[in-house]
Amino acid sequence: MSYVITIDGPAGAGKSSAAKDTAEKLGINYLDTGAIYRAIALILSQSEVKPIDDEIMREALSDIQIELRGKAVLVNGFDVTGEIRTPEVDELASVYSAVPSVRKALLALQKEQENHGSIVAEGRDVGSVVFPNAKVKFFITASPEARAERRYKERISKGRPADYDAILKAIIERDRNDSSREVSPLTVPEGAVYLDTSDMTEEETVQFILNKVKEALPYETQTK
Ligand code: DC
Repeated sequence: MSYVITIDGPAGAGKSSAAKDTAEKLGINYLDTGAIYRAIALILSQSEVKPIDDEIMREALSDIQIELRGKAVLVNGFDVTGEIRTPEVDELASVYSAVPSVRKALLALQKEQENHGSIVAEGRDVGSVVFPNAKVKFFITASPEARAERRYKERISKGRPADYDAILKAIIERDRNDSSREVSPLTVPEGAVYLDTSDMTEEETVQFILNKVKEALPYETQTK
C-alpha cells in the first residue's frame, strides 16, 4: 500500500537532503515542491508577469504547463532544472509563491504525484494543505544562523561567491515572506514531528526521520 511522508520547514533547515536521502533509503519517490514554485516564478518573471494582479496572473498561468520528469522540472517542454537554483530565483519563488492564483494552479499537480506510488514530499505546506492525510509528517527547522552557515559552506564548496551576512539577511527575509503570507503560510502541520536540526548533522537528521517513519509504518517500510 502506498503512503505519503511530508517534510515542511524553512529554507536551509536541511529538508531537501533529508527528504532525498529518506526517499532513497525507503526506495520511494521524492517530491520537491519548491522546485515547482521556482520554475513557475522563473517563467512568470521572464514573461514579465508581475506578481501583483491576480487576474492577469491567472491568465498567464493557464498557458503554462509544468511537468515533473524524475528529478527534472520542465516548463512548456523546456528543462529548467539547472536555472532554478540561483539566489535570484530563491527570491522570485518566495514572492510569486505568495500569490493565491499561483498556489491554486500548482495544487493539483502536487496532489497528483501521490498516484505514482509512495512519496516523501518536501515544502512549506505539504503536510498542512497538499497532503493533509499524510501518514507521517515532519517539521524541520534550525536557527537562522545555523541555516545561513550551511548555505555559506555549500556555496564555498561549489566555488561560488558567498557573503555570510548577506545570506543571513536573505534567509530572515524569506522566512518573513513565507510565514506571513495569507495563503498557505509556513506553519507546523497538525500532528507533525517537530525537529530542530541546528546541532544535528545531515546523517543524524535522516536517521531520526527514518526511525520515526519505521516506527509509525512498520509494515509499509519492511524491506523485501
Ligand atoms: O524549498 P525551496 O527553497 O526550493 O522553495 C522555494 C520557494 O518556494 C520558497 O521561498 C517558498 C516557496 N514554496 C512554497 O511556498 N510552498 C512549498 N510547498 C514549497 C516552496
